[in-house]
Amino acid sequence: MIIAHLSDLHLDGEARAEDRVAAVLGYLGGLAEPVDAVVVTGDIADHGTAAEYARAAELLKYPAPVLVCPGNHDVRAAFRAGLLDLPPSDGPIDLAQEIDGVLFAMCDSTIPGDGAGFLADETLAWLDGVLSGGDGPAFVAFHHPPVEVGVPLVDAIRQSGPERLAAVLARHPRVTALLAGHVHTGASTTFAGVPLRIAPGVVSGSLLPAEPGGDSAWAEGGPLEYDRPPALLLHILHNDGRLTSHHRTIPL
Ligand SMILES: [Fe+2]
Repeated sequence: MIIAHLSDLHLDGEARAEDRVAAVLGYLGGLAEPVDAVVVTGDIADHGTAAEYARAAELLKYPAPVLVCPGNHDVRAAFRAGLLDLPPSDGPIDLAQEIDGVLFAMCDSTIPGDGAGFLADETLAWLDGVLSGGDGPAFVAFHHPPVEVGVPLVDAIRQSGPERLAAVLARHPRVTALLAGHVHTGASTTFAGVPLRIAPGVVSGSLLPAEPGGDSAWAEGGPLEYDRPPALLLHILHNDGRLTSHHRTIPL
Protein backbone atom coordinates (compact mmCIF):
# COMPACT_ATOMS: atom_id res chain seq x y z
CA MET A 1 0.00 0.00 0.00
CA ILE A 2 1.19 3.49 -0.85
CA ILE A 3 -0.17 6.50 1.01
CA ALA A 4 0.35 10.05 -0.22
CA HIS A 5 0.62 12.38 2.77
CA LEU A 6 0.31 16.11 2.29
CA SER A 7 -0.38 18.94 4.64
CA ASP A 8 -0.86 22.65 5.13
CA LEU A 9 -2.35 23.67 1.81
CA HIS A 10 -3.60 27.02 3.22
CA LEU A 11 -5.94 27.61 0.27
CA ASP A 12 -6.80 31.29 0.46
CA GLY A 13 -8.44 32.03 -2.89
CA GLU A 14 -5.12 33.15 -4.40
CA ALA A 15 -3.52 31.47 -7.39
CA ARG A 16 -0.25 30.84 -5.57
CA ALA A 17 -1.68 28.32 -3.09
CA GLU A 18 -4.02 26.79 -5.65
CA ASP A 19 -1.20 26.27 -8.16
CA ARG A 20 0.82 24.45 -5.52
CA VAL A 21 -2.04 22.10 -4.64
CA ALA A 22 -2.74 21.51 -8.32
CA ALA A 23 0.94 20.66 -8.89
CA VAL A 24 0.89 18.05 -6.12
CA LEU A 25 -2.35 16.48 -7.36
CA GLY A 26 -0.96 16.62 -10.90
CA TYR A 27 2.08 14.68 -9.74
CA LEU A 28 -0.12 12.07 -8.05
CA GLY A 29 -2.31 11.90 -11.15
CA GLY A 30 0.74 11.22 -13.31
CA LEU A 31 1.77 8.08 -11.42
CA ALA A 32 1.50 4.82 -13.35
CA GLU A 33 -1.25 3.81 -10.95
CA PRO A 34 -2.99 5.82 -8.25
CA VAL A 35 -1.78 5.64 -4.68
CA ASP A 36 -4.13 3.76 -2.33
CA ALA A 37 -5.02 6.73 -0.16
CA VAL A 38 -4.31 10.44 0.11
CA VAL A 39 -4.05 11.76 3.67
CA VAL A 40 -4.22 15.53 4.21
CA THR A 41 -3.25 16.52 7.74
CA GLY A 42 -4.92 19.87 8.12
CA ASP A 43 -4.73 23.58 7.39
CA ILE A 44 -6.54 22.86 4.16
CA ALA A 45 -8.08 26.34 4.14
CA ASP A 46 -6.27 29.46 5.28
CA HIS A 47 -9.27 31.32 6.71
CA GLY A 48 -11.85 28.52 6.88
CA THR A 49 -14.37 30.10 4.52
CA ALA A 50 -16.96 28.24 2.46
CA ALA A 51 -15.31 29.48 -0.73
CA GLU A 52 -11.93 28.07 0.31
CA TYR A 53 -13.46 24.66 1.03
CA ALA A 54 -15.31 24.71 -2.28
CA ARG A 55 -11.96 25.14 -4.06
CA ALA A 56 -10.36 22.50 -1.86
CA ALA A 57 -13.08 20.02 -2.79
CA GLU A 58 -12.43 20.70 -6.47
CA LEU A 59 -8.64 20.49 -6.20
CA LEU A 60 -8.53 17.37 -4.01
CA LYS A 61 -10.37 15.11 -6.43
CA TYR A 62 -8.48 11.82 -6.87
CA PRO A 63 -9.32 8.25 -7.91
CA ALA A 64 -8.59 6.92 -4.39
CA PRO A 65 -9.95 7.94 -0.99
CA VAL A 66 -8.86 11.40 0.17
CA LEU A 67 -8.85 11.48 3.98
CA VAL A 68 -8.75 14.79 5.79
CA CYS A 69 -8.49 16.23 9.28
CA PRO A 70 -8.68 19.89 10.28
CA GLY A 71 -5.80 22.15 11.31
CA ASN A 72 -5.73 25.33 13.34
CA HIS A 73 -6.56 27.45 10.27
CA ASP A 74 -9.63 25.34 9.49
CA VAL A 75 -13.14 26.03 10.79
CA ARG A 76 -15.08 22.95 11.81
CA ALA A 77 -18.56 23.85 10.57
CA ALA A 78 -17.38 25.06 7.17
CA PHE A 79 -14.94 22.12 6.88
CA ARG A 80 -17.78 19.65 7.52
CA ALA A 81 -20.13 21.29 5.08
CA GLY A 82 -17.62 22.03 2.33
CA LEU A 83 -15.34 19.00 2.36
CA LEU A 84 -17.33 16.20 3.97
CA ASP A 85 -20.87 17.02 2.91
CA LEU A 86 -21.93 16.71 6.54
CA PRO A 87 -24.31 18.98 8.45
CA PRO A 88 -22.36 21.87 9.96
CA SER A 89 -21.63 21.44 13.66
CA ASP A 90 -18.84 22.65 15.91
CA GLY A 91 -17.79 19.38 17.60
CA PRO A 92 -14.52 17.59 16.82
CA ILE A 93 -14.23 16.11 13.33
CA ASP A 94 -13.10 12.52 13.95
CA LEU A 95 -13.38 10.11 11.02
CA ALA A 96 -12.28 6.50 10.59
CA GLN A 97 -11.99 4.65 7.30
CA GLU A 98 -10.61 1.21 6.52
CA ILE A 99 -8.86 0.80 3.17
CA ASP A 100 -7.69 -2.68 2.12
CA GLY A 101 -7.61 -3.82 5.75
CA VAL A 102 -5.71 -0.77 6.97
CA LEU A 103 -7.44 1.60 9.39
CA PHE A 104 -7.02 5.35 9.10
CA ALA A 105 -8.17 7.26 12.18
CA MET A 106 -8.34 10.95 11.30
CA CYS A 107 -8.43 12.91 14.57
CA ASP A 108 -9.33 16.52 15.25
CA SER A 109 -6.50 18.10 17.29
CA THR A 110 -7.77 21.65 16.95
CA ILE A 111 -8.96 24.05 19.63
CA PRO A 112 -11.43 26.43 17.94
CA GLY A 113 -9.99 29.94 17.88
CA ASP A 114 -6.53 28.84 19.05
CA GLY A 115 -3.38 27.95 17.13
CA ALA A 116 -2.35 25.26 19.57
CA GLY A 117 -3.58 21.68 19.62
CA PHE A 118 -5.28 19.24 21.99
CA LEU A 119 -7.10 15.95 21.56
CA ALA A 120 -10.39 16.31 23.41
CA ASP A 121 -11.44 13.51 25.77
CA GLU A 122 -14.22 12.80 23.29
CA THR A 123 -11.69 12.33 20.47
CA LEU A 124 -9.42 10.08 22.53
CA ALA A 125 -12.37 7.90 23.60
CA TRP A 126 -13.43 7.66 19.96
CA LEU A 127 -9.86 6.75 18.93
CA ASP A 128 -9.63 4.06 21.61
CA GLY A 129 -12.91 2.64 20.31
CA VAL A 130 -12.00 2.52 16.62
CA LEU A 131 -8.58 1.02 17.38
CA SER A 132 -10.33 -1.68 19.42
CA GLY A 133 -12.37 -2.71 16.38
CA GLY A 134 -9.69 -4.85 14.72
CA ASP A 135 -6.05 -5.84 14.72
CA GLY A 136 -4.79 -4.85 11.27
CA PRO A 137 -2.34 -2.02 10.69
CA ALA A 138 -3.59 1.43 11.68
CA PHE A 139 -2.52 5.00 11.06
CA VAL A 140 -3.52 7.75 13.47
CA ALA A 141 -3.49 11.18 11.86
CA PHE A 142 -3.91 14.69 13.26
CA HIS A 143 -2.60 18.17 12.57
CA HIS A 144 -0.53 19.05 15.65
CA PRO A 145 2.52 16.93 16.56
CA PRO A 146 2.43 15.90 20.24
CA VAL A 147 6.19 16.45 20.70
CA GLU A 148 8.76 19.16 20.07
CA VAL A 149 10.43 18.90 16.68
CA GLY A 150 13.03 21.67 16.80
CA VAL A 151 11.06 24.57 15.28
CA PRO A 152 10.47 26.67 18.41
CA LEU A 153 7.57 28.81 17.20
CA VAL A 154 5.67 25.71 16.12
CA ASP A 155 6.74 23.69 19.14
CA ALA A 156 5.10 26.41 21.27
CA ILE A 157 1.73 25.57 19.65
CA ARG A 158 2.08 21.79 19.51
CA GLN A 159 -0.47 19.30 20.85
CA SER A 160 -0.67 19.50 24.64
CA GLY A 161 -1.69 16.69 26.98
CA PRO A 162 0.33 14.09 25.04
CA GLU A 163 0.43 11.61 27.91
CA ARG A 164 -3.27 10.97 27.31
CA LEU A 165 -2.59 10.00 23.70
CA ALA A 166 0.37 7.88 24.79
CA ALA A 167 -1.92 5.93 27.13
CA VAL A 168 -4.28 5.11 24.26
CA LEU A 169 -1.41 4.10 21.96
CA ALA A 170 -0.01 1.81 24.65
CA ARG A 171 -3.23 -0.21 24.46
CA HIS A 172 -3.04 -0.59 20.69
CA PRO A 173 0.24 -1.94 19.31
CA ARG A 174 -1.46 -2.18 15.89
CA VAL A 175 -0.66 1.49 15.25
CA THR A 176 2.00 1.59 12.51
CA ALA A 177 2.62 5.33 12.62
CA LEU A 178 1.25 8.72 13.52
CA LEU A 179 0.83 11.20 10.66
CA ALA A 180 0.86 14.95 11.28
CA GLY A 181 1.46 18.35 9.70
CA HIS A 182 1.52 21.86 11.21
CA VAL A 183 5.30 22.25 11.05
CA HIS A 184 5.54 22.96 7.29
CA THR A 185 8.59 20.76 6.91
CA GLY A 186 9.07 17.09 6.24
CA ALA A 187 10.30 15.50 9.45
CA SER A 188 10.47 12.10 11.06
CA THR A 189 10.57 11.38 14.78
CA THR A 190 8.86 9.18 17.34
CA PHE A 191 6.17 9.64 19.96
CA ALA A 192 5.53 7.10 22.72
CA GLY A 193 7.69 4.66 20.79
CA VAL A 194 5.59 4.99 17.64
CA PRO A 195 6.95 6.49 14.40
CA LEU A 196 5.69 10.03 13.82
CA ARG A 197 5.88 11.28 10.24
CA ILE A 198 5.30 14.96 9.57
CA ALA A 199 4.42 16.02 6.04
CA PRO A 200 6.02 19.11 4.51
CA GLY A 201 3.85 22.16 3.94
CA VAL A 202 2.47 22.46 0.43
CA VAL A 203 2.22 26.24 0.85
CA SER A 204 5.61 26.98 2.44
CA GLY A 205 8.56 25.48 4.30
CA SER A 206 9.71 26.13 7.84
CA LEU A 207 13.27 26.73 8.95
CA LEU A 208 15.36 25.56 11.85
CA PRO A 209 16.68 28.39 14.08
CA ALA A 210 20.21 27.91 12.76
CA GLU A 211 19.15 28.41 9.15
CA PRO A 212 19.11 31.91 7.60
CA GLY A 213 15.77 33.52 8.54
CA GLY A 214 15.03 30.73 10.99
CA ASP A 215 14.91 33.11 13.95
CA SER A 216 12.14 35.34 12.49
CA ALA A 217 9.20 36.06 14.78
CA TRP A 218 5.64 35.51 13.53
CA ALA A 219 5.29 39.32 13.30
CA GLU A 220 8.19 39.32 10.84
CA GLY A 221 6.64 36.54 8.76
CA GLY A 222 7.82 33.65 10.88
CA PRO A 223 10.57 31.09 10.24
CA LEU A 224 9.07 30.30 6.85
CA GLU A 225 10.44 30.00 3.36
CA TYR A 226 7.95 30.72 0.58
CA ASP A 227 10.24 29.87 -2.33
CA ARG A 228 10.59 26.23 -1.30
CA PRO A 229 8.70 24.08 -3.82
CA PRO A 230 5.63 22.15 -2.67
CA ALA A 231 6.36 18.69 -1.34
CA LEU A 232 4.72 15.58 0.06
CA LEU A 233 5.54 12.22 1.60
CA LEU A 234 4.86 8.87 -0.01
CA HIS A 235 4.55 6.19 2.68
CA ILE A 236 5.01 2.59 1.59
CA LEU A 237 3.42 0.11 3.99
CA HIS A 238 5.29 -3.10 3.24
CA ASN A 239 3.70 -6.53 3.59
CA ASP A 240 5.92 -7.24 6.61
CA GLY A 241 4.46 -4.21 8.42
CA ARG A 242 7.41 -1.84 7.95
CA LEU A 243 6.83 1.70 6.81
CA THR A 244 9.19 3.49 4.41
CA SER A 245 8.58 7.18 3.79
CA HIS A 246 9.83 8.94 0.67
CA HIS A 247 10.01 12.73 0.43
CA ARG A 248 9.19 14.35 -2.90
CA THR A 249 9.40 17.98 -3.97
CA ILE A 250 7.24 18.99 -6.90
CA PRO A 251 8.61 21.52 -9.39
CA LEU A 252 6.22 24.33 -10.18
FE1 LIG B 1 -0.20 25.40 8.58
